[in-house]
Amino acid sequence: MIVAVLNTKGGVGKTTTALNLAVGRAIQGRDVLAVDADRQGSLIAALGNREGVQAVATAHYADGQILRQQVALAKTRYEDIIIDAGGRDNSALRAAMLLADVVLIPFQPRSFDVWALDDMAALLAEMRAVQDVHALAFLAMADARGRDNDEAAESVPDGMQYLDAAVGRRKSIADAAGIGRSVLEDGKDEKAVFEVRRLIKAVFR
Ligand SMILES: Nc1ncnc2c1ncn2[C@@H]1O[C@H](COP(=O)(O)OP(=O)(O)OP(=O)(O)O)[C@@H](O)[C@H]1O
Ligand SMILES: [Mg+2]
Repeated sequence: MIVAVLNTKGGVGKTTTALNLAVGRAIQGRDVLAVDADRQGSLIAALGNREGVQAVATAHYADGQILRQQVALAKTRYEDIIIDAGGRDNSALRAAMLLADVVLIPFQPRSFDVWALDDMAALLAEMRAVQDVHALAFLAMADARGRDNDEAAESVPDGMQYLDAAVGRRKSIADAAGIGRSVLEDGKDEKAVFEVRRLIKAVFR
């Protein structure tokens, strides 16, 4: 399955999510390719730190046309392809949107993030003139408590489905991602493990 983790807004948790999906599926025994479609190359850099643990295959294509060609080829070789794009509307993001079986949109329970989903909805509508796109929005870096999560969930615009599989703002998740790991691997933060597992299950259902 091809999953593209996309949002035209920056810093919402795309790369961290892509890393957890790619590592999570790999340790479940799936043949995974993690594709970094962001010029910044953070996903590649993070996964390059995986020393002494199961390696995850990576590729870096920041150009939309090349991404399209290469993923079309890789599709026959890998069971899962996870694409992480940059936080802006560009050729790679649009190509990833059309390649993906599922477009996964992380957003935070903050007003600017919720408003930014309208931009994604508009882009999805434009892409749907070409082909159908299945889009799921989920809360990344959700609050531990309070009403903001629910309010943000209720504000998800038409054109994308709210996926009830929030991942909390947790230091363990950020720390693990910094060294190319998923919280699933050391298993110490049980709440984080539960949330990441739930997300993977919901996305690959
Ligand atoms: N669940 C989480 N808990 C705590 N921190 C998180 C979580 N997810 C992401 N972060 C942190 O938030 C910041 C942004 O995350 P990330 O780089 O994954 O976002 P992004 O959408 O890929 O950003 P960009 O648009 O720059 O590519 C990073 O410092 C990351 O460590
Ligand atoms: Mg990123």
